[in-house]
Amino acid sequence: MSFIPEKKQNPAVKRVIGVVSGKGGVGKSMVASLLAESFASRGLKVGLLDADITGPSIPRMLGIDSFRGESDGEHLFPVENEEGIKVLSINLFNEREDEPVIWRGPLLAKAIDQFWSDTVWGDLDYLIIDFPPGTSDVVLTAFQTIPFSGIVIVATPQDYVSMIVRKSINMASMLKTPVLGVVENMRTMVCPHCGSEVALFDDGTQNGAQRMGLPLLASLPWRKDLAQSRALRWSALSSAVHKDADTMANEVELALASVSPA
Ligand SMILES: Nc1ncnc2c1ncn2[C@@H]1O[C@H](COP(=O)(O)OP(=O)(O)OP(=O)(O)O)[C@@H](O)[C@H]1O
Ligand SMILES: [Mg+2]
Repeated sequence: MSFIPEKKQNPAVKRVIGVVSGKGGVGKSMVASLLAESFASRGLKVGLLDADITGPSIPRMLGIDSFRGESDGEHLFPVENEEGIKVLSINLFNEREDEPVIWRGPLLAKAIDQFWSDTVWGDLDYLIIDFPPGTSDVVLTAFQTIPFSGIVIVATPQDYVSMIVRKSINMASMLKTPVLGVVENMRTMVCPHCGSEVALFDDGTQNGAQRMGLPLLASLPWRKDLAQSRALRWSALSSAVHKDADTMANEVELALASVSPA
């Protein structure tokens, strides 16, 4: 008998991609938002589910924090941002965005189940799910119930030595979820003065993704415009950020094609 419950299918959603990390603050929400925006800029139908219930950041990142989601008591309706990305986050249902969610693990996990099963997503080419860090109840429930096409691991170069990233990878494999690869964040920084790319780590040429035996999907430099933007509105981002995001999205599509050929 398997300990893995039946995954809940939604035939209207073609592909579900999870964005996870070992540690917090490594850039998951930014990667999830940039992936969603790059796909949406190609005319694809995209949803973004903020599975970080105690630390939701997607509404701010996509510039929709002043909007409110709707519910008819049975279903949840996502809010669309200016690129047409359908967003669902607990913060779209709170009166105030600084109101804390004081729930224990099982309730948090139930909320994720509802966000997936009871939301009127409509037809989507991609649903991107932005997770809290680590392998908490929420992440576990999501991996058990949502049929992921694949997950993307976000890591900074310091993380490669840690076993926390390995835990996420091992959990994915135990729950039969394909790992598409690693997005490495902030190995380099783009100097705000001269524009040259400066290496922040002296750890040789082999990247951490290779060390973990996973494909490197993208290496995103630290950029001042990303650090300072209150919201990552696609129309306001630089062409350099568009290029990074588009390259990352292309690699994710290629990786998806290799794990589940069309
Ligand atoms: N490449 C980058 N250049 C500049 N700033 C960045 C970059 N990556 C992330 N940041 C900034 O670092 C902060 C943390 O990023 P983000 O919120 O995406 O991390 P996270 O992994 O989702 O964090 P948490 O674990 O708390 O959910 C944000 O303010 C973000 O704008
Ligand atoms: Mg986040």
